[in-house]
Amino acid sequence: MKKKMSYEKYCKCEDDHQKYGEILNVIDLYRGREGCLIQVLHAAQKIYGHLPLELQKFIADELKIPLSEVTGVVSFYSFFSVTPRGEHTIRVCLGTACYVRGGKKLVEHLIKTLGVDIGGTTDDGKFTFEIARCIGACGLAPAIMIDDVVYKQMTPAKLNTLLAGF
Ligand code: FES
Repeated sequence: MKKKMSYEKYCKCEDDHQKYGEILNVIDLYRGREGCLIQVLHAAQKIYGHLPLELQKFIADELKIPLSEVTGVVSFYSFFSVTPRGEHTIRVCLGTACYVRGGKKLVEHLIKTLGVDIGGTTDDGKFTFEIARCIGACGLAPAIMIDDVVYKQMTPAKLNTLLAGF
C-alpha cells in the first residue's frame, strides 16, 4: 500500500494516478535488472503517451539512478518524446532521393495543411509531424510514412486524399 503511494507527488490528477500505477508495475518487473532503462521508458511512453520531466523523475527515483541518466537517454533517442504525441505520426522523407523529387514540397504542404511546424502536433491531437531520412523507398520517391505504413510517389494532392481518410 505504501509503495503504491510513491507516485502521488508526481501526479496531477486521477488519470495520472492510474497511469503511474501501471508504470510502477512495469518498473517492478524490471527493478534490479541491469540495462533496463530503455525498456522501462518504452513502456512508460506507451502507457503515458509521452515522457514529461515529472515522469522521468519518478522513473529515476524508482530505479535509483540519477535523473541525468534518464534525461540523457530520452533526449538521445528520437523515438522518445517529452511532449504529447498525436494519434498518428506522419514522417516525410527528406533523404536525398525524396528531397530532390519533391519531399520539400510535401513538407511545406503539410506545414500549411496541418498548421504545425516540423516536430509539432496538431491542436486536435490527431497528427504529429516529423521528418525521416530515407525510409527505404528511394526508387519511388518522394515517400512518406504514416505510423508504420509507407506511401510512395506522393504529391500534395495525394496527401490531401490520404489525410482525409484518417
Ligand atoms: S530517400 Fe526517401 S526513401 Fe530513400
